[in-house]
Amino acid sequence: MKIAPSILSADFAALGDAIARVESAGADQVHVDVMDGHFVPNLTIGPPVIESIRKRTRLPLDVHLMIESPERSIEDFVRAGADLLTVHLEACIHLQRALAQIREAGAKAGVALNPSTLPSTLEFVLDDLDLILVMSVNPGFGGQSFIPTAYAKLRQLRRLIGDRAIELSVDGGVGLANAASLVQAGAGVLVAGSAIFGAPDPAHAVRALRSAAEVVK
Ligand code: DX5
Ligand code: ZN
Repeated sequence: MKIAPSILSADFAALGDAIARVESAGADQVHVDVMDGHFVPNLTIGPPVIESIRKRTRLPLDVHLMIESPERSIEDFVRAGADLLTVHLEACIHLQRALAQIREAGAKAGVALNPSTLPSTLEFVLDDLDLILVMSVNPGFGGQSFIPTAYAKLRQLRRLIGDRAIELSVDGGVGLANAASLVQAGAGVLVAGSAIFGAPDPAHAVRALRSAAEVVK
């Protein structure tokens, strides 16, 4: 089970410190949300900031692209330091090509599904995938309420994945209250923003989330 703190809820003027805190608490990877103001109604950061983060941590950077036409900037994000690059299925007309392009650029390839997108849309790209990210909120903002249909989607995807080495991640409204049920439904990576960086002590929040999630194991 992996914990991926999402820096969207951290203080952007003190990102280095925020990441150091969760790294020392045993976080497994840093989740970086990239938004373009088109695919989602919010704007965040791009390759230059990722390049700066890369210099401040040894943790893998799990970069979640919520942008239109992600194929245009895959190489830029990998060059900036993304270890795992996730595109949205809804933003890619040629999804298989985009996933192959990510691997070709040297990163692991992920695909994210909006809450209304069917799991079966991935059936014919499973061999091109290293990670599936189930959105349990509509992407764009931190701190939104968890949409419970994610449980059934995780269970279906777990069955679809079978024994392939594809990680299953969940993002949006993840916290102490649902961590155990999400792992039970099949999630192997928990992405959490406000539950970690909105807590008074983010390091403690990482450890608490891990204990809550590990109850089922
Ligand atoms: C939302 C982002 C999430 C966000 C989650 O579009 O993809 O990674 O940071 O935030 P919380 O955990 O607060 O729902
Ligand atoms: Zn995200």
